[in-house]
Amino acid sequence: MKLPMIIVHGGAGKWKDERIPVGLEQVEKAATAGFQVLDNGGSALDAAEACTVYMESCGKLNAGLGARANIDGVKELDAMIVDGSSLNFGSVAAITGIRNPVSLARYIMEKTGFSFFAGDNAKRLYEKMIAEGYRTEAEPGVVAQSSDGGAKDTVGCVVVDGQGRIAATSSTGGISKKIPGRVGDSAVMGSGAYANDVCGATATGWGEHIMRVTLSRMIVLYVEEGLDVGLAAKRGMEMFEAKTGSEAGVVVADAKGNYGFSTNAKAMPTVIIQGSIDNMTSFTCQE
Ligand code: GLY
Repeated sequence: MKLPMIIVHGGAGKWKDERIPVGLEQVEKAATAGFQVLDNGGSALDAAEACTVYMESCGKLNAGLGARANIDGVKELDAMIVDGSSLNFGSVAAITGIRNPVSLARYIMEKTGFSFFAGDNAKRLYEKMIAEGYRTEAEPGVVAQSSDGGAKDTVGCVVVDGQGRIAATSSTGGISKKIPGRVGDSAVMGSGAYANDVCGATATGWGEHIMRVTLSRMIVLYVEEGLDVGLAAKRGMEMFEAKTGSEAGVVVADAKGNYGFSTNAKAMPTVIIQGSIDNMTSFTCQE
């Protein structure tokens, strides 16, 4: 049984060897958190949000609490959530002072009639979200519990629920040495993530390069054109490398629960749970 399923990555990049097991453990916990939501009857969107909130809150990955700071020492977060069955999405860019931008992205998608907010005005929407009770805070700015630690790269997941509905997320503190106001692919529909009723994909890597080729949308298109998801992930990475010479990673899943992944980076901690919580595959995807 392939459904429901979740595929999660903890960021592709030049991981230090000793950090890889730490990252993988957090991705396993995030996948478990997401899958438990599916087990309890939650939707793909519910599970994708829960999984991503975990990664934003664990402090060990480059998102939320663990996010990399910009050159001024400020964490400016980008995040997105995509609902493949409606083609709707919510994005938040360059937001400061909160830990779980993916929840705000979902609020934007579901409650505002708009899709993409940035900076201080996105922060005002966060306050509205809490005031309306859409989500509760464990402490100011925090939708979930947390611990502290270091970071690597963007996180994301693709989830397919029992009805074949697909959701995808991306969340990040961005790249090293970014200047204030810079926004990467994680908030940009079709670049850092994409999903429709056929397939979903999420990407990790240098945002400027991922946006040039709208990497996630391209991979989903390959699947729509008939390519198997595993081959689509590989073809996407080959296209990305040929056009940009850069490093990235992708995870992909189709509506039937088939999955694929690919990276040309040193390491990308990756976890898949298919059908049952006992059916977890956990590994470090490598170039
Ligand atoms: N992929 C994350 C970023 O470039 O911001």
